[in-house]
Amino acid sequence: MEFNSIDELNDDDRSLLLKAKEAAKNAYAPYSKFKVGAAVRLANGLVIIGSNQENAVYPVGLCAERVALFSAQAQYPDQPIIALAVTAIGSDGKITQPVPPCGSCRQAMIEVESRHNQPLRVIMQGEEGPIIVSEKMEDMMPLTFAEDFLKKYTVI
Ligand code: THU
Repeated sequence: MEFNSIDELNDDDRSLLLKAKEAAKNAYAPYSKFKVGAAVRLANGLVIIGSNQENAVYPVGLCAERVALFSAQAQYPDQPIIALAVTAIGSDGKITQPVPPCGSCRQAMIEVESRHNQPLRVIMQGEEGPIIVSEKMEDMMPLTFAEDFLKKYTVI
């Protein structure tokens, strides 16, 4: 689904996106200068935020989405994560397109869905401009490799 303005979102999606925008300000991104913010909503209503955390050894850094997801799961392992909002602040002009989560983060989101057997809603925006809302991970990453596939062919 695509929306033209944050005012068109439902209350939960709008507040989650606003939390992600706040979180982006806390990013540690001295190398890319691309500050990403994420916010996840748990089934009990709690919101956990994350931002990208970079490192002088570049691959050590972690994306905002996984910081938020892993922090939420570490603190509330039994709470399903029902939604994630992601946005970013650039360093060369305003970001006017929705920020797409990277492939590794999408894989991490798929794990969250299969872990809790709950669809994960994803809300994406830049600093301004259109907002894309996806209702389930299959739409963002088809031909999924997930737990059920492993279970079918291994003894786990
Ligand atoms: N980044 C995220 O935090 N999330 C994404 O989905 C895309 C990329 C971060 C990683 C790195 O710190 C910076 O943005 C540039 O790639």
